[in-house]
Amino acid sequence: MVVSSVEKPIAKQPHASRLYRELAPAYEAVWPILARKRIRAAIGNLELDAGHRLLEVGVGTGMSLDSYPQSIDITGVDLSTEMLAQAQRLVEEERWSNVRLLPMNAEELLFDDSSFDVVTSFHVISVVSDPRRMMREVVRVCKPGGKILIVNHFRSNNSWIARMVDSAGAVTRRLGWRTDLNLHEITADFPLRVERCYKTSPTSLFTILTATKLDA
Ligand SMILES: C[S@@+](CC[C@H](N)C(=O)[O-])C[C@H]1O[C@@H](n2cnc3c(N)ncnc32)[C@H](O)[C@@H]1O
Repeated sequence: MVVSSVEKPIAKQPHASRLYRELAPAYEAVWPILARKRIRAAIGNLELDAGHRLLEVGVGTGMSLDSYPQSIDITGVDLSTEMLAQAQRLVEEERWSNVRLLPMNAEELLFDDSSFDVVTSFHVISVVSDPRRMMREVVRVCKPGGKILIVNHFRSNNSWIARMVDSAGAVTRRLGWRTDLNLHEITADFPLRVERCYKTSPTSLFTILTATKLDA
């Protein structure tokens, strides 16, 4: 299923990868408190069947991994080898033989078309250098009829909230996060049927998007 060997060196080290190499230890201490509940809720609403092949793009330190059932086959990829090393330690501690982790660029996935039943990605699409390129890859490797789950911050339709978030843009850009990404921008023109688009609370800045890949 993997087209090219994972040993192939990753030529590009975008800004976000360098950043997450430096942030990995601090990230592990703070981020789970903020994000774990949202990820767990989003995965809980997926209908995952035993034997399903699932790809998580930008798996980071593996915070999501204990939210998946053990009966599915999980591949996690991330550009940062430091983040992946922490995820690998967790996988070994927990003895999750159904999980494999690979260094890979979300914008250039080394898998055949239609390799996975489900593709997930949490808080990643606004840190990659070209979000539509990542989305094209996510859609490409998902089987027709398969599910795509994206959790991310998208620009609010509420102009007051959008302006408030814009004012934090200078800070978040330094962290490698875009705050101006439009949900329509990443879904338009792809063979997708959006199934659900919701927030875990009315005040949450994050959107949970589930979609089905249609036959092209
Ligand atoms: C905000 S973190 C989210 C990590 C994890 N999904 C979570 O929710 O805890 C963003 C992750 O995206 C990864 N990343 C950034 N650019 C990437 C790319 N082009 N390809 C793959 N992973 C990338 C970073 O290394 C980092 O692990």
